[in-house]
Amino acid sequence: MHRRELLRFLAGSPFFMGLPQIPGEKAITSPEEAFSVFDFERVARDVLPPAHWGYLATGVDGDRTLHRNREGFDKFGIRARRLVDVREVDTSVEMFGTRWETPIVLAPVGSQKAFHPEGEVAVARAAKNRGHLQILSTMTTSSVEDVNAAHDKPVWYQLYPTASWDVTEGLLKRAERAGCPAVVLTVDLPVISYRETAQRLARMDSRDCSVCHETGPIYFRLGRKPMFDNVDVTGLTDLDAPSLTWSFIERLKEHTTMKVLIKGIVGREDAALAVEHGADGLIVSNHGGRAEESGVSTIEILPEVIDAVRGRIPVIIDSGFRRGTDIFKALALGATAVAVGRPYIWGLASFGQEGVEMVLTTLRRELELAMRLAGATSVRALDGSFVRPKT
Ligand code: GLV
Repeated sequence: MHRRELLRFLAGSPFFMGLPQIPGEKAITSPEEAFSVFDFERVARDVLPPAHWGYLATGVDGDRTLHRNREGFDKFGIRARRLVDVREVDTSVEMFGTRWETPIVLAPVGSQKAFHPEGEVAVARAAKNRGHLQILSTMTTSSVEDVNAAHDKPVWYQLYPTASWDVTEGLLKRAERAGCPAVVLTVDLPVISYRETAQRLARMDSRDCSVCHETGPIYFRLGRKPMFDNVDVTGLTDLDAPSLTWSFIERLKEHTTMKVLIKGIVGREDAALAVEHGADGLIVSNHGGRAEESGVSTIEILPEVIDAVRGRIPVIIDSGFRRGTDIFKALALGATAVAVGRPYIWGLASFGQEGVEMVLTTLRRELELAMRLAGATSVRALDGSFVRPKT
């Protein structure tokens, strides 16, 4: 009864954003039935326990930035060209000497076994089958070795540095040994942000969560996070690193052979500093609306970052991408690639590996359609002339 009421509440709430509310329309029962990634959002919401759904769906404070990420796409229209032969479209991109069939990247998302028992390994199999780059979270619930064994190309490793260099170095070396070619340093959570929606939904979850979620010192809480197996975290109070400054980038560069990308850049000054401090790439990201409640979408920020970087390093973008047209706009504004997070987790929660594959297929189909309809035959050809800023 409690759960039914909760689901009814969620159906009419902003936590459930994408689908048109057609009276009587039922949730899909297989991946093939999906019309868009939002069909998976609905199933994920129905099957996940409230606390896990809350963890996935939450933004911060009043979730304004989360919503703004979607609204931001309306600030840009698509400017189509006509009478172009669009039978073939080339969506491939190259990053650090590796060619990918698609510019759609799987963003790092923590604790994927909270959404499906096969977690990150099922995601790796799907990414491999569909030819996508996967970025693996420090808070992964599958080891980097297992994930790389499931993918034919090693993942990029997302790093939460912690306040201890020894712990950070342990994580770095392990990712290197596992063959990861790049490390993605997340810099937008010097302290943990205020996830109000997650807390509200967790309070409505009546299960006994202590089986999986130990409280207490960090080394207990990290018990189920395999990247911390054999890492001595004694003395660490938490995973945030509030004292980190730009010199950390040089330190990272000195201690690793991996390419170093900075994730969480939201303005021209920091984009320029990232290049100055030797970053090999950056990710324009507001952490899917989960870092500071800025109220600004990443697509609105992208042009000034592209301007500051001046083509010197690749610029990836994430936060709020749900449609091929969203991806089209970012590529046309100068992004090298686009990362998606929640949509593939909706697919994972709904139908495991097959759900992830269908989410990726859907996004690719939509991107290719957007390109054909706009007369763009390759990602290379997509430039600012394909976008019409709206006032
Ligand atoms: C972790 O990166 C989170 O956003 O929960």
